[in-house]
Amino acid sequence: MFEHIDAYPGDPILSLNEDFQKDPRSNKVNLSIGIYFDDEGRLPVMRAVHEAEAAILNEPGPKPYLPMAGFAHYRDAVQALVFGENPARADGRIATVQTLGGSGALKVGADFIKRYFPKSQVWVSDPTWENHRFIFERAGFEVNTYPYYDEATGGLKFDAMLAAIDALPAKSIVLLHACCHNPTGVDLDRAQWERLIGVLQARDLLPFVDMAYQGFGAGLDDDAFAVRELARRGVTALVANSFSKNFSLYGERCGGLHVICEDADAAGRVLGQLTGSVRSNYSNPPTHGAKIVTRVLTTPALEASWKSELAAMCQRIARMRVAIHDGLRDHVRGEALSRYVKQRGMFTYTGLSAAQVDRLREEFGVYILRSGRMCVAGLNETNVGPVVEAFGKVLAASK
Ligand code: LMR
Repeated sequence: MFEHIDAYPGDPILSLNEDFQKDPRSNKVNLSIGIYFDDEGRLPVMRAVHEAEAAILNEPGPKPYLPMAGFAHYRDAVQALVFGENPARADGRIATVQTLGGSGALKVGADFIKRYFPKSQVWVSDPTWENHRFIFERAGFEVNTYPYYDEATGGLKFDAMLAAIDALPAKSIVLLHACCHNPTGVDLDRAQWERLIGVLQARDLLPFVDMAYQGFGAGLDDDAFAVRELARRGVTALVANSFSKNFSLYGERCGGLHVICEDADAAGRVLGQLTGSVRSNYSNPPTHGAKIVTRVLTTPALEASWKSELAAMCQRIARMRVAIHDGLRDHVRGEALSRYVKQRGMFTYTGLSAAQVDRLREEFGVYILRSGRMCVAGLNETNVGPVVEAFGKVLAASK
């Protein structure tokens, strides 16, 4: 029966993370997966999350199914965090459903647009998070790329990106990263977003914005600039958001899918169809993580604590960027060096070859992706020195 089923080749990120867990070396360093580890290299439980969870566990009660669209208070609180004070919210133009993390939002959104825009194709940045391609291809789309990362400068090929998007057929789906681009750490600035949004609107394209790292770039509000600007300017768009990273709630699978519509009537119909898509996939989402997020976002003291801890996490990432930049001064110069401090969020595209990455892992126990992506959020005061030394040795050997 199953002879024709090939072995799964593994996932470039999650399978490497599993290899890391199996590595017996005590000095190993995990800079592969997009996870923030604390100064002791552990997954942090944020103070606000801890307090909210303790309060929830103190109020045991029945565990009914949530509505298909999710917990209503959660949907409100998440919409407010993502869109801020926005006329689109006031007008009831945004349809929001609770999802299983950001990936769940991408999947529900992909199924929805495949059903209503069956002839459209998807365009993703070159490069993008590997799972974007997998999710959209499995939803039945042809997935293409638009120019994005410039290896020569460690920056953005903005003109080429804009020209490619300006030439797409109407109703094409353009996958964009709101902030902290995964894998490159290279983002558009506000002026570039303004120009891009003008093109998306003029060409009648359908943006799908993935915001998995809100708060890890320039702050919770600035990171949502593109999303809020799309909504403010009345551009129809889909937005996926996640609380895996900014709440350190990876396994609770908390996220949201938001569809910005032309009016409240369309938002009502879209919400109904998203609900139908949830029902036919997994019926309704889980409760626990959503309760934690809602409690934090709707309790001022917890919200303030969460924001300050998130800001401290970002400051540590920024310090680690400087440390690796300074430590590599003797080995790389120019853009190859400045990218460590210029690129934003959890990731930096190191420019290391797959062979260099393999050597880092095999000889020094330092795990980064074979694409050269390094998760800076795995660095801390203790491991940054040995990591810089390992990078230095690998780079020196290739000169
Ligand atoms: C990553 O890019 O490392 C994270 O988003 C984790 C994942 O699921 O790939």
